[in-house]
Amino acid sequence: MEIKVVTGDIVRIEADAIVVNLFEGVKQPGGATGAVDRALGGVIAQLIEKGEIKGKLHEITVIHTQGKLPALRVAVAGLGKEKEFSLNTVRDVMAEVCRALNCVNAQQIASVVHGAGAGGLQPEKAAQAIVEGAVLGLYSFDKYKKREPDETEIKELLLVELTPGLCPAIEKGSRRGKVLAEATAMARDMVNEPANYMTPSRMAEKAKTVADTYGLECTVLEAEQMRAMGMGALLGVAQGSQQPPKLIILAYKGDESSKKAVGFVGKGITFDSGGISLKEQDGMKDMKTDMSGGAAVIAALSVIAQFKPRLNVTGIVPAVENMPSGSAMRPGDIVKAMNGKSVEIISTDAEGRLILADALSYAVKQGLSPLVDLATLTGACIVALGHVCSGVLTNDREFLSRVMTAGEAAGERMWELPMFEEYKELIKSDVADLKNSGNRTAGAITAAQFLVEFVEGPWVHVDIAGTANLEKEKGYLISGGTGVGVRTLVNLAEALAQT
Ligand code: BES
Ligand code: MN
Ligand code: ZN
Repeated sequence: MEIKVVTGDIVRIEADAIVVNLFEGVKQPGGATGAVDRALGGVIAQLIEKGEIKGKLHEITVIHTQGKLPALRVAVAGLGKEKEFSLNTVRDVMAEVCRALNCVNAQQIASVVHGAGAGGLQPEKAAQAIVEGAVLGLYSFDKYKKREPDETEIKELLLVELTPGLCPAIEKGSRRGKVLAEATAMARDMVNEPANYMTPSRMAEKAKTVADTYGLECTVLEAEQMRAMGMGALLGVAQGSQQPPKLIILAYKGDESSKKAVGFVGKGITFDSGGISLKEQDGMKDMKTDMSGGAAVIAALSVIAQFKPRLNVTGIVPAVENMPSGSAMRPGDIVKAMNGKSVEIISTDAEGRLILADALSYAVKQGLSPLVDLATLTGACIVALGHVCSGVLTNDREFLSRVMTAGEAAGERMWELPMFEEYKELIKSDVADLKNSGNRTAGAITAAQFLVEFVEGPWVHVDIAGTANLEKEKGYLISGGTGVGVRTLVNLAEALAQT
């Protein structure tokens, strides 16, 4: 989709559809909506009067202009209650409007910058949210589907602003939004690819392509190198699969004056069958998405390389397939991680923490700090928080607040779960330093208690099991991979560069 910013009156724009808005409860439309209403002879006000347009969220009314305007149609999008209005409303509304207009075969649409006027949002941020909402709301993963010949899609989006002085900010925001949305779509593509395509090797190839395209350093460690470094936990998970494991390292150098670098680690299980502790059918069905954290890290680095904040960032993605076979790891096995700690395997399905143990140990050894890991780690996190927000756990609540602020700005919500020492009891082993699974209680927390054994310095763990993959579309999030974490990590890197 091509995105352009123009100065002018939306009433004069020629397009398949122009998009205006209305807050809930407004009886007499003002601003651009008012101007369009007048040009249409008061039909919007009339529809409000009759109760057909209420301005509620999810309400989209498409009106044909019948020659009264250069545009063919007007879409009036409800913005909901003014006091609940936010950038995330803009993303969701824009996504829903675009899908609705796509259905009527609109190819070129024009929109006011929702929220930049009466909504009180910064024009730059509002424009960014509009573009994110439009691009991500129209996303579909259809590369394996035969396309119907008459299927069209929105090819051009014009952002129309009356005040010329606001256009540079809107231009800037829209460019930012496009890069972020396209990277998020790339993460979604990686997640939605089936596991017979998106193997650890293909993830590594993808990372190399990203590195070549945007100018990052990419190193891929092979099994022998990982063995030499003592990554027994990661290799234990990998040993049941025909697919060789890869440890993907992407480095962005934005501050040559410093040796310090921030570390982003993403779980890259390309398929989680559970291994010998085999999952049942329902639990296995979406397990091609178990590399969502890794995809988010690769995509975030691609944006960081384009935005060029003044800091160094290293992304680490352990890419491994978890399969059962004659060579697979067994419950009862004991493996040794790179930092020297031994782990008794209770369940081969608690594999994410094993590959992260070695990836985090490696990050520590490289001196990376602070650390953030993103992982579809536990079903227990979904039980606790559903699909509404990610779970976060930390050894440093000050750093956590920075991660959460970055998430907030992206509209990616997080909720903290506790790290009380008492939970550590649950992963004490009789025969090794740790065991890889506790009992049925507090599963998201014991997983984080396990991970903290492999980090040094400030660290935040983001459990995205409930947010990385959705069954039902919800605003700018569609069914399938969501690309969660990409925009949060980029915001965080930029914020860390400021201090
Ligand atoms: N990848 C799963 C967690 C998961 C479940 C992600 C559902 C997304 C949707 C993880 O590897 C796993 O199997 N976790 C186990 C841990 C248990 C064996 C301690 C779980 O949550 O059941
Ligand atoms: Mn598992
Ligand atoms: Zn898993």
